[in-house]
Amino acid sequence: MSIDLPRLEDLPDLDRCRVLLRADFNVPLRDGRVQDDLRIATVLPTLQWLHEQGAAVVACGHLGRPKGKVDMQFSMAPVASRLGELLGREVALAPQVVGPTAAAMAASLDAGDVMLLENLRFEAGETANSPALAVNLCEMVDAYVNEAFGASHRAHASIVGPPAILPSAGGRLLFREVEVLSALLHDPKQPFVAVLGGAKVSDKLGVIGALLDKCETILIGGAMAFTFLAAQGYDVGDSLLEPEWVADCKTLLETGRVKVPVDVVIAQDISADADTRIVGASRIPDGWKGLDIGPETASIFADTIADAANVLWNGPMGVFEIEPFAQGTRTVAEALADCHGFTVIGGGDSAAAIRKFGLADRVDHVSTGGGASLELIEQGDLPGLAALRNGKKA
Ligand code: 3PG
Repeated sequence: MSIDLPRLEDLPDLDRCRVLLRADFNVPLRDGRVQDDLRIATVLPTLQWLHEQGAAVVACGHLGRPKGKVDMQFSMAPVASRLGELLGREVALAPQVVGPTAAAMAASLDAGDVMLLENLRFEAGETANSPALAVNLCEMVDAYVNEAFGASHRAHASIVGPPAILPSAGGRLLFREVEVLSALLHDPKQPFVAVLGGAKVSDKLGVIGALLDKCETILIGGAMAFTFLAAQGYDVGDSLLEPEWVADCKTLLETGRVKVPVDVVIAQDISADADTRIVGASRIPDGWKGLDIGPETASIFADTIADAANVLWNGPMGVFEIEPFAQGTRTVAEALADCHGFTVIGGGDSAAAIRKFGLADRVDHVSTGGGASLELIEQGDLPGLAALRNGKKA
């Protein structure tokens, strides 16, 4: 399907030019090293294309939420070293986001070089969408590429500012992400099944509403299922509950297309050696909380996924990081892997889960953007995409 955004090929000749590449390098770290490099590795095709054009790249991104101050635990140094390993060449890290040192480093780049700016969120102007910061970033370069699908729901300076100033385009990853989600949302083949989990129903109500128009069935797991179970009149013990959303959940259940757990795994505490039980969804005792969907629910969900032409999964079914509460999420992951339909993981924790179970290469698309994919489904657009669409023409 055609996407109404400027492509890399729409940029002017980039030979000996410098390109600002905004990526979503917000990756998990452990002991100062990148723990999961999906968001770095998926930018390589665009970097390769820019290299072939004879461009030098000033890459940038954010890491964590350092709140506008320099905080070295959020330094981009681990990203620079992992990107360098993947590229097989050194990626110099500027010690600042903008300023004379960063500008001098950018000015000295040769064709094919890649450097990285320090964490954009060390500058308060990034999240405040400061036009001055956008101008300072753009002064170092000749063109801009948004490859940060996962951050394009943020109207931040490096996302929405540059397209108004420079010839701009979406990168390969950004296009793939938008194409996959747009194909699902515009006239999907049925049955289209959405599997939604995660902690809070309040975060997902808008998405459920948007998906109800498109999907035949929405399967609900994770802690957010308990607000639905309360809407069915069940006592949910000590499970996570958002009482203010019970009425909305009731309305959604009345559509008959939202399916909730029929059994759950419960425990009194969230630990690897917790005493666990499997109970019917209406029988959670006080003092116990639901921490995973039960086996009967997992099997119903897997059967529904098996017959689907399209599946979108966002949010784990339980506390999958802890083994006694991982089986529901594992069963859903396996069902997606075995499904012959088009299968999409909508980023975030479910992307982490499918990789943990070693099944990521058996689904059609693993999004790099959790919040961004949900917002694109709900709103039909993102600030970063709108900025590209409305930006300065190349
Ligand atoms: C993400 O990790 O989802 C994106 O990088 C956005 O990060 P943020 O939620 O801190 O804005």
